[in-house]
Amino acid sequence: MANRFTVILAAGKGTRMKSQYYKVLHPVCGRSMVEHVLTQVEHVAPAKIITVIAAGAKQVQEVLGKRTEYVEQKEQLGTAHAVLQAEKLLGHSSGTTLVMSGDTPLFTAATLEKLFTYHEQQHAQATILTAQAPNPFGYGRVVRNAQGQVEKIVEQKDATAVEQKIQEINTGVYCFDNQKLFEYLHQVKNDNAQKEYYLPDVIGLMQQHQDRVCAYQMDNFDESMGVNDRAALAQANKIMQARINQFHLQNGVTLFDPEHTWIDVDVQIGADTVIEPNVVIKTGSKIGRNCYISSGSRLVKATLEDDVKVTSSTIEEAIMHQGSNIGPNSHLRPQADIGPQVHIGNFCEVKNAVIGARTKMGHLSYVGDATLGSDINIGCGVVFVNFDGQKKWHTDVGDHAFIGSNANIVAPVKIKDHAFIAAGSTITSDVPQHTLAIGRARQVNKDNYWSKLPLANDPEWQ
Ligand code: UD1
Ligand code: CA
Repeated sequence: MANRFTVILAAGKGTRMKSQYYKVLHPVCGRSMVEHVLTQVEHVAPAKIITVIAAGAKQVQEVLGKRTEYVEQKEQLGTAHAVLQAEKLLGHSSGTTLVMSGDTPLFTAATLEKLFTYHEQQHAQATILTAQAPNPFGYGRVVRNAQGQVEKIVEQKDATAVEQKIQEINTGVYCFDNQKLFEYLHQVKNDNAQKEYYLPDVIGLMQQHQDRVCAYQMDNFDESMGVNDRAALAQANKIMQARINQFHLQNGVTLFDPEHTWIDVDVQIGADTVIEPNVVIKTGSKIGRNCYISSGSRLVKATLEDDVKVTSSTIEEAIMHQGSNIGPNSHLRPQADIGPQVHIGNFCEVKNAVIGARTKMGHLSYVGDATLGSDINIGCGVVFVNFDGQKKWHTDVGDHAFIGSNANIVAPVKIKDHAFIAAGSTITSDVPQHTLAIGRARQVNKDNYWSKLPLANDPEWQ
């Protein structure tokens, strides 16, 4: 097998996206379009992968890192000109070069492999991957001669009325004999509607010079979709969503309504987990078996062990251990570590805190920067006061402590095992084991207070 190289084109301006961000960085189900492409080509043509980026496109480099080499295209003069920038890294190598665009995120390695196999079997100098488009508008059309061989590709803006009727499109994916590719790239001209150097013109040039040009038509047009605007981006997300959800359904996950469940790439979900509609699970989340995630939940890099229940809550970079539950309408923020069987109820927030097994926090509490033991009861409306205006401080609470409702725990402070905090207390010093702490003014009852009010003499108020 010949060496397999890849060139990914990612320098285009993406004008049609109307965005301040590089087009290829727009995400599809949590991964940028160009990274989708890179992830697939790594399986099929990894010998040398070169990404063509716009001058100074640091963000693209940050996203793709060292998984690819980079060349810069200073001016966006067209796709042929873009590939030509890779000449200094690739021009002298012999092998087969896969060229793809960074804005076609749905291609699978399986399809690319089929293209390679076909190209190699046919001993072609170029093989273009084509598809039948229900609506070919905007794509380059594949013009074939009377014998059915590919003659050339015409772009939408250069196509005659007859050519515009052709439904077979250029997917923008090609296999080339590497040396032939660079030989012909130098001959491409920009005498067309957009005054650009078109890569597909290489196909026409090869054909004219009797080099062997083939076309491999894939069966699934959806996979070939190019994303040039927001409508296509939404559609690409939809297709990827269906693919991802199908995968989880096959693994034994129940999705009541896969069309309205948004799960990114790189999410693990165990069997027998049930997910209601209108749930969003972002990349990097890991969900165990037999969990239940209800409508309105949002998980961002969350880890749920088995048997966890999440009811309409947001979980970000936090872990919930086995059998714990949360919600409705609570929020776990980064570094919340929720122990097994812990119950977190309504309208609670936990940040950077470890909560031991079976501890309960039923309603309206905030716990931040704290270490809590097991079997603690946190009453309604308890606030861990962790910020003094300049610094964050830590609180420790021992096992079996009982914290009455509406207490303020002013950090730094240590509440020991089996301690009791009276409701409404503001706790500013440590509480020893087995102790009851009352940190509030004693109640005073003012006798006959009502009769001292001026209103008391008003007959209407008697
Ligand atoms: C291109 C093809 C078209 C094909 C379609 C498939 C050309 C001329 N046309 O059209 O036949 O049907 O893809 O999706 O190739 N880019 C650069 N530098 C440039 C110009 C573009 O790196 O100077 C990159 C873009 O970032 C993009 C890719 O090349 O990732 C394709 O460019 P785009 O402008 O999207 O081409 P299309 O009009 O979609
Ligand atoms: Ca495109």
